[in-house]
Amino acid sequence: MKYSRIIGTGGYLPEKVLTNKDLESTIETSDEWITSRTGIRERRIAADDEFTVDLAEAAALNAIEAASVSRGEIDLIIVATTTADQVFPSTACLLQQRLGMEGDPAFDVQAVCAGFLFALGVADKFVRTGAANCALVIGAETFSRIIDWSDRRTCVLFGDGAGAVVLRADNSPGLLSTHLHSDGKYKDLLCVPVGVSRNFSKVQAGAAYTTMEGTEVFRWAVKAMSDIITETLDANDMQKDDLDWLIPHQANIRIINAVGARAKIPNEKVVVTVDRHGNTSAASVPLALDQAVRDGRVKSGQHVLLEGFGGGFTWGSALIKM
Ligand code: COA
Repeated sequence: MKYSRIIGTGGYLPEKVLTNKDLESTIETSDEWITSRTGIRERRIAADDEFTVDLAEAAALNAIEAASVSRGEIDLIIVATTTADQVFPSTACLLQQRLGMEGDPAFDVQAVCAGFLFALGVADKFVRTGAANCALVIGAETFSRIIDWSDRRTCVLFGDGAGAVVLRADNSPGLLSTHLHSDGKYKDLLCVPVGVSRNFSKVQAGAAYTTMEGTEVFRWAVKAMSDIITETLDANDMQKDDLDWLIPHQANIRIINAVGARAKIPNEKVVVTVDRHGNTSAASVPLALDQAVRDGRVKSGQHVLLEGFGGGFTWGSALIKM
């Protein structure tokens, strides 16, 4: 049986740090409010001339170097993003050109904050079926571009960044399973309610902003992300004690803590970056994975459960033997 295996991770954060103190001077908020309600202390913001493909490229190069593969070996690129550079071509095609690659499939996946899990699930199926041998999977966002910076209910939560993994076919696992879900009836609870086909004038006016019913989203995120831990462990006939690490979507420390408590996974086994990154949407999980790999917490042979939750709603997980 063929599996896909993560052989390298990478990450990139824009240089500009926006702290809660900085936000105090632009909106009516406080470091105390943001920290106590969300756990976020600072987030990164892309420079005006920095685009999603730039972030994706930096993270991809980082992951390719860690994986010690040549670009020629990569035969699939998937970019998870909600903040594509252009309407088309896809950010994955722009990245493919940047990397000097051609011919093999490159495409974007859009599942907002669960996007990386969806991209990983698709890439895993390509590799398992033999349709690809070596895949570059990236979550990259300039989410700051779809935020109303005068709306304190949303603007304190989000940031920019990119994370990447290189997957390669292997005879031993690897990715043990991926689990993906969506429920479009919650489409209005977390969204940017304008786009190319609807209310395009608002996009042209620079008013394509994220709107959110915070309390409802919070409740759903906790339920979906704790239920999917059970689903993932059950599918692999594993117990929570078999897990070495949980890497949840980094939206809010209170969501992460509530998920950990419901799933009875101790805090020491949960990777947290939300304090320094904020919510970087599709980039949050691969960025957190990369940090935990690079600082030596996540080690070869360990079992890691990745999970995401986002607008749609969408939610997903991946159980990995590193
Ligand atoms: N600074 C100060 N006050 C703020 C604020 C801010 N940045 N944002 C909102 N408030 C105010 C509101 O105006 C409201 O005031 P009011 O009661 O006078 O109307 C009050 O704070 C809301 O407080 P509360 O309901 O206690 O907030 P909360 O504990 O529900 O936290 C969120 C709000 C947004 C942090 C929380 O609901 C949340 O994290 N939801 C999930 C969001 C998320 O993660 N989305 C992405 C998922 S992928």
